Amino acid sequence: MKSVLIFDSGIGGLSIYLEINKLIPNQHIIYAFDNAAFPYGEQEDDVLVTRVCGMVSALCAEYNIVLVVIACNTASTLVLPYLRELLSIPVVGVVPAIKPAAEISQSKKIGLLATPATVKRAYTRQLVQDFAFSCEVTMVGSTRLVQMSESMLRGIAVDKDELQAVLSPFMGEVDCIVLGCTHFTLIKDKIEDVVGESCQVIDSSKSIANRVAGFLIKEGQKAFLNKHQHWVFSSASVNEEAVLNQEFCQIGFLSIQRVPIF
Ligand code: DGL
Repeated sequence: MKSVLIFDSGIGGLSIYLEINKLIPNQHIIYAFDNAAFPYGEQEDDVLVTRVCGMVSALCAEYNIVLVVIACNTASTLVLPYLRELLSIPVVGVVPAIKPAAEISQSKKIGLLATPATVKRAYTRQLVQDFAFSCEVTMVGSTRLVQMSESMLRGIAVDKDELQAVLSPFMGEVDCIVLGCTHFTLIKDKIEDVVGESCQVIDSSKSIANRVAGFLIKEGQKAFLNKHQHWVFSSASVNEEAVLNQEFCQIGFLSIQRVPIF
């Protein structure tokens, strides 16, 4: 069976999975998350390069993976060149949608909400230089928001005051915010509630799903399978596993498996 591998540090990549599954519902998916090293936004660069390259190539050696999606901005803005060197299949990365934001913004003042690592990356600075040189860019890096998204999928509601505090540097300053972390797309509606209608909130998930579908069609790699049989692998035991399994099950996965190759 031919599978698409979606990889993240946690459950954030599910925002990418949902769009891919909407577009190509019969494609078999393996979702793998490195919760042993979560949160990636707090990891050293060399640790991330070793872990992501090691795990993704081990999964590709073990399973018949036809395409990899690094559903993590923190990893993609760093490891894509290393990974593409290692693998002969397409590797799709998820990086902040700076270019569309610069085009959409009327005030030419945009925001980037990402992990602390992503806002510091040379890759991100280059994106801004290349595509948002005419804009003022306010960047906020928040690990707390990543944790809040993880908790939400385990049944803990997002605290509005805390969310407001994280978003406060953007308020009244920007008219478009880029969600540069896949976790944040899972709470996009809550972020929109706080920032209001005068500020657009955008992410990369739909365009990534289009890219993935395009690749698979071009390469004739579409694999067909019954629904509700996607697989999910973790690198460590999972907090609130029963609750999270319910969530995974509802969106088409079997129960989470610990994978020894991690
Ligand atoms: N979901 C990830 C991203 O898009 C990383 C979150 C984390 O582990 O810090 O950046």
